[in-house]
Amino acid sequence: MATGTSPPAFRVETSDDDRRTVGKVVYQATVSLDGLLAGSGDPREWAMRYSERNPTLEAAIRTTGAVLVGRNTFDAVRRQARATTGAFPGADWTGPRFVLTHRPLEGVPDDSTRPFSGDLREAVRLAQAAAGEKNVTVLGASVGAQGLRLGVVDEILVHLVPVLLGSGVRFFTNDELPELDLERLSLSVAGPVTNLRFRVRRRSS
Ligand SMILES: NC(=O)c1ccc[n+]([C@@H]2O[C@H](COP(=O)([O-])OP(=O)(O)OC[C@H]3O[C@@H](n4cnc5c(N)ncnc54)[C@H](OP(=O)(O)O)[C@@H]3O)[C@@H](O)[C@H]2O)c1
Repeated sequence: MATGTSPPAFRVETSDDDRRTVGKVVYQATVSLDGLLAGSGDPREWAMRYSERNPTLEAAIRTTGAVLVGRNTFDAVRRQARATTGAFPGADWTGPRFVLTHRPLEGVPDDSTRPFSGDLREAVRLAQAAAGEKNVTVLGASVGAQGLRLGVVDEILVHLVPVLLGSGVRFFTNDELPELDLERLSLSVAGPVTNLRFRVRRRSS
């Protein structure tokens, strides 16, 4: 049996973490154990099953002031019943959304949803201005990879769920991702979900 003082096995996030994380750009997703954020068949149902009663996810939503979302993710969310206001799987969220796309956006509910095409760094600047003191949440593997490559992602928040999807969209795509060192900031569990938050320590030039 171990003796002495051991570090706590899990740190449960609290309201203090809300304050600690403000003003950050956070790449966030529910991820399968084999590292996918979408399966090849139904891309979202499995994630929805694990989105309830997770204080870390709720805190992330509460501290989000603006969302940067890729067109593929935006379209997938829109296909859901709650899509008119939701940005996250299984949760309603309202606020400024910048949709990265080269194509016109049709049928958006109001002008809080704006298309953006071009350099992601400019999109981040716009989103940060819109977010005020809150965080900018980045949704979508392609957009997340761009953000990491360009050095504009401060933190990565993963909700790891006990599912193997086999094939689909990788959380970290291969397209020119630099080698990055990460620092684990927190770890918590909510039922079957393991939440992991990392700070990006080394960035590409
Ligand atoms: N499990 C989760 O929590 C979670 C979270 C987020 C997403 N997802 C899933 O991930 C999948 C989508 O990921 P993804 O990597 O395929 O796509 P994505 O990142 O959502 O969107 C990529 C698309 O965004 C547009 N885009 C990206 N960067 C741009 C730029 N700088 N300027 C203009 N347009 C730009 C392009 O669309 P166009 O050129 O076609 O306009 C590009 O094809 C979906 O199935 C979604 O449900 C899951």
